[in-house]
Amino acid sequence: MQTCRTITEMRAALRAVTGRKIGFVPTMGALHEGHLSLVRAAKTQSDFVVVSIFVNPTQFGPNEDLARYPRPFEQDCGLLEKEGVDTLFVPPVEQMYPPGAVTYVTVEELSGKLDGKSRPSHFRGVATVVSKLFHIVQPDLAFFGQKDAAQVAVIRRMVRDLDMPVRIVVCPIVREPDGLAMSSRNAYLTAQERSTALALSRSLQQVRSVFDKGERRAAVLVAAGKQVIQAEPGARLDYYEAVDPDSLDPVREIAGPTLVAVAAYVGATRLIDNTTLGI
Ligand code: PAF
Repeated sequence: MQTCRTITEMRAALRAVTGRKIGFVPTMGALHEGHLSLVRAAKTQSDFVVVSIFVNPTQFGPNEDLARYPRPFEQDCGLLEKEGVDTLFVPPVEQMYPPGAVTYVTVEELSGKLDGKSRPSHFRGVATVVSKLFHIVQPDLAFFGQKDAAQVAVIRRMVRDLDMPVRIVVCPIVREPDGLAMSSRNAYLTAQERSTALALSRSLQQVRSVFDKGERRAAVLVAAGKQVIQAEPGARLDYYEAVDPDSLDPVREIAGPTLVAVAAYVGATRLIDNTTLGI
């Protein structure tokens, strides 16, 4: 696996890859089976796989976990080597944001929904860095996890609106055997918090079971999910919503594919999870 640390190195590495389908997996490192499932999908669907590791400062709010975000770089490299990744792009912050950088990509409307409500600059940071990475890597396919469903909607819309020549491939949520959605932030949880965190997936199972019994009113389904989180003393709800997966607008009835998404704080850690009904 070749490691590139500058944009110039990355572009030079890609010049040698003519006529092959490039698959790209952007990450912030602290890799787990969820990321590796994206890498495996990229390996299957493309001829040359690029992974980036970049803890992107612009998607963290002022009081968020940028400084303590886990950075187990050697371990990540070992995992990516084992998966047969061709090129790893690990730019330092000054490469991605040269001094005086003031240009951002904002996906209006979507960026203020779901996670964007409590993390107001988050999706602007995500859209900016992903568009920069797409410019640098110029992938044919880019792989994202369904766990970050709102991020997927923002990126899809950005790609469509800006005519970016890349196909977005979305891979299913990978869960621990007890249902917890895999996340780099799970590393922050104490044993007690980890058990509290199971309330998120349990609440979504509850929503699905009410849906399977025939309920189609979004408010009733959301209330069933909220109840599970609110019954857990160590969890604090951020949002529980049933929305259109593309526009992220709330729906009243489940009449087609509907994203049911939850975010909650467990201790100081903010976790998200979701399920899609009506497919
Ligand atoms: O999902 C993530 O890990 C990040 O938001 C991404 C897409 C790598 C952009 O920094």
